[in-house]
Amino acid sequence: MTQNSDKKKLVALVSGGGSNLAAITERIDGGDINGEVVAVISSNAEAFALTRARERGIPAYVCARKDYENNEARDREILRIVREHNADYILLAGYLGIISPFLIDAYPYKIVNIHPALLPKFGGKGFFGIHVHEAVIAAGEKESGATVHFVDSGTDTGLIIAQRSLKVLEEDTPHSLQQRILSNIEHKLFPEVVRALCNNEIKVENGKVIFKDGNFK
Ligand code: GRF
Repeated sequence: MTQNSDKKKLVALVSGGGSNLAAITERIDGGDINGEVVAVISSNAEAFALTRARERGIPAYVCARKDYENNEARDREILRIVREHNADYILLAGYLGIISPFLIDAYPYKIVNIHPALLPKFGGKGFFGIHVHEAVIAAGEKESGATVHFVDSGTDTGLIIAQRSLKVLEEDTPHSLQQRILSNIEHKLFPEVVRALCNNEIKVENGKVIFKDGNFK
């Protein structure tokens, strides 16, 4: 249940289907996330995540790299939108863009990403979408999973908030592994972290993530 009336304002950055966004808005509808998605910004005009946002009446924006001179110019516009909506947190929910340092500095420990692998393994340049799962299978990993982390200036290198794993099955293909991680882990783990953030249960002290009750369930 909602813990207090001071709802956190969440801006989601997306590039694709937006199933993680949908998992979060479902939990908001269910009343156990003390927050609201106040805007959705997509790097891709065709992203289905935009349709999901518009259907819910959430202001939806497109900030495609090709419409700007460089990353910085695009991120200045993203920062403008995020500020206009008084965001408390920026959620990278399947966002494929690289975030400029000035945007990270403007929202220290307020930008959160979900990555479909057990970081620090299978993260960084080139590890996105199906490529992550192809690499996991090619490496013969016995386990994979997902990681929710704060965003820093590296790619997939920020402080880890939570991780959950599952077994890689003999018969798994990159696609089946991707789907199982999405539905069995990502769609639960990301909303749980968002719930905890919105209840002020997570803070960072001396470069470490601290949970209010000692542990993340
Ligand atoms: C997810 O696997 C997420 O971890 C990754 O991109 C995918 C996005 O899926 N960063 P969706 O757009 O939330 O459906």
